[in-house]
Amino acid sequence: MAAMLATTHKGWVCEFDQRIVGFSMGNRGTGELWVVAVLPEFEGRGIGRKLMELAVQWLRANACPDIWLWTSPAISTRAYALYRKFGWQDCGLHNGQRIMRLP
Ligand SMILES: CC(C)(COP(=O)(O)OP(=O)(O)OC[C@H]1O[C@@H](n2cnc3c(N)ncnc32)[C@H](O)[C@@H]1OP(=O)(O)O)[C@@H](O)C(=O)NCCC(=O)NCCS
Repeated sequence: MAAMLATTHKGWVCEFDQRIVGFSMGNRGTGELWVVAVLPEFEGRGIGRKLMELAVQWLRANACPDIWLWTSPAISTRAYALYRKFGWQDCGLHNGQRIMRLP
């Protein structure tokens, strides 16, 4: 992970009272939004949206031609609702995982 963060990946954290309550990471080598996650008790406050935006801005600034992610095949998740709301296109299932892309 340290090697990744020193080269292809970058991460962001959200702190509350000196505790990390959410984080995101992107991979400029592939254009992948690698992860966004928020502790359950901190959901619904806009933290996931902000963390996702920071990672996407960084991928765009690095001129990634294809910004994409894979997520659970289920479309009832908070993550799926978040991605769709912010314009990610559902590219269907590949090898059992749902692929999504930003236009
Ligand atoms: C997905 C996750 C990161 C969202 O974090 P969050 O901090 O709760 O998200 P936000 O509060 O920023 O919500 C962002 C937007 O999505 C909307 N949203 C979130 N869940 C929703 C749902 N179930 N239905 C409809 N809209 C939803 C919110 O209304 C919000 O829009 P708004 O700011 O305009 O009101 C968080 O739920 C999480 O960590 N889930 C578990 C890990 C995970 O699944 N990560 C993604 C793996 S691919």
